[in-house]
Amino acid sequence: MCGIFGYVGTRDAAPLLIGGLKALEYRGYDSAGLYVVGAGCIKAVGQVKNLEAKVGDTMKGHVGLAHTRWATHGVPSEINSHPHSDCTGKVWLAHNGIIENYSELKDELIAKGHQFKSATDTEVAAHLIEENLKTMPVFADALLAMLKMVRGTYGFVIASDQDPEKLYIARKGSPIVLGIGEGENFVASDPSAIVPYTKKVIYLNDGEWAEITSSSYKLFDLDGHEIAREPQVIAWDVEQTQKGGYDHYMLKEIMEGDNVIKNTLAGRLDEEALSIKLPELADVEDRLKDIKRIIITSCGTALYAGWVGEYLIEEYAKVPVECEYASEFRYRSPIVEPGTMIMTITQSGETADTLAALREAKRQGAMIVSIVNTVGSTIARESDAVIYNQIGPEIGVASTKAFMSQVTLLTAFAIKLAELKGVVTAEANKDIVREILALPEKIKTILEAREDIKAVAQKYASYDDFLFMGRKYTFPIAFEGALKLKEISYVHAEGYGAGEMKHGPIAMIDEKFPTVALCLNDSVYEKMISNVQEIKARSGRVLALATVGDETMKKMADEVIYVPAIMEMLEPVLCVVPLQLFAYYIGTGRGYDVDKPRNLAKSVTVE
Ligand code: G6P
Repeated sequence: MCGIFGYVGTRDAAPLLIGGLKALEYRGYDSAGLYVVGAGCIKAVGQVKNLEAKVGDTMKGHVGLAHTRWATHGVPSEINSHPHSDCTGKVWLAHNGIIENYSELKDELIAKGHQFKSATDTEVAAHLIEENLKTMPVFADALLAMLKMVRGTYGFVIASDQDPEKLYIARKGSPIVLGIGEGENFVASDPSAIVPYTKKVIYLNDGEWAEITSSSYKLFDLDGHEIAREPQVIAWDVEQTQKGGYDHYMLKEIMEGDNVIKNTLAGRLDEEALSIKLPELADVEDRLKDIKRIIITSCGTALYAGWVGEYLIEEYAKVPVECEYASEFRYRSPIVEPGTMIMTITQSGETADTLAALREAKRQGAMIVSIVNTVGSTIARESDAVIYNQIGPEIGVASTKAFMSQVTLLTAFAIKLAELKGVVTAEANKDIVREILALPEKIKTILEAREDIKAVAQKYASYDDFLFMGRKYTFPIAFEGALKLKEISYVHAEGYGAGEMKHGPIAMIDEKFPTVALCLNDSVYEKMISNVQEIKARSGRVLALATVGDETMKKMADEVIYVPAIMEMLEPVLCVVPLQLFAYYIGTGRGYDVDKPRNLAKSVTVE
């Protein structure tokens, strides 16, 4: 949720810390702060540039830590922003996650005479270390004792005047990555902040902590045993984490669409044999042949990708599928019978509810297959098999390219499962694979027509309510289109199944309440036409998404955005692109920073 960055080396730490925070700003941004050993702590409310202005070049020192905060306990303010310290000002730390027993710990510490400055849960950790240091002369011992006292989740980076040449990090539930440089080391909550400096990284697992100097690092478990782990090399390059010439990451990531499909399919599609290969499923193939039921569970945009998966898998692989909110699954006593496979879909691999749902399913003995973008993330590590998106980091808070990739992988998975189950022959799949091969070019034609979509968006920029409706394969896309619009333009938008329109939404329709209707030439086209007519009869304005050449829709709707003809099962990945662009142009047209929508965070690592 929040961003952590730390540096220990020989260079001036402050500018590196500011740079690291800027790279992480998308994770949470109501306030920021940094601490440089020997130079002190500076905090500022608002974006990192406010902190940068306050810091100037006043801070000299080569060890430090920094944080961008997205409030969970206590309002956004300088006092509540991280880093936090103990009473003596010798222990400084930044934290992601939630310390669930902070209130009782705080009471105990106050009773012992500790004075708290902030309303955060985090501050107890600094005072606990201070308290432990009274009986434990070695800093690492005091830190380890603190880790054993706190309940909940944490990603910590900690500095101490007692060990001025070291940083300490720890992880339970909130990601922390160590970047190994030459004579300098980095820590961050997300590897994208480290990539500009080094590609050699070590991911900490839950229950691990580390002691880091400029030239060394030591990893330990919570029993204090040292752990040996070699660094791994990240495949991303710096350019992938930058805007690539576009005004916003969101637009850059939408415009990557055609390549996103190609990268997602790299190594997974045999163009000659016209077949799908998913080598990452090799170890679980035998179990997949026997599965009787699939539950897909995720959050946000990834959940809507899951809805598409439900339709695809049931239609092609003939396996019953349910798709549900991870936040519900984790609490509603779900029954996971033998033979059930759980699929989680997650861009970050760290979403708290998705992770909790995975763990609940695992506890009940289910096999977990996940679609994940972030390599090495917690959900990736805890799954039995992972199909990675292979699309590089997604920076825009509102997910776009990840959705295209997730739906593409779900299509590949459905085809593969159909083959494994023997419900369809490889021969029959060739038509689908041919169509998948044509997808990037079709997406490209939509991207190239973005100025037309912008012009349409301008016509709709002043409306405050929207209905998005679709049916069958466009049903989830209606929800995703509405979600995108509300996320980045703060406009009220509802996704609905077109068939449900008569059961409520039609009551709201008038000239001030336009409808975005997804009416492609498919098996439900005529049903959709009837729904559009019903809206027109009530003075509702209609923006239709239609198949190239559809003259009927041109006459019926007020505006039409055309997409190339496509096989029904592949409609979702194509249809979502113009809706992402539509939302982008409405959001930017209203003057909002669409990369950092208010109140939202890229990686929701708390409930
Ligand atoms: C947040 C993001 C969404 C994302 C959702 C699930 O709400 O803003 O864009 O779809 O989390 O995230 P995940 O990383 O699990 O895909």
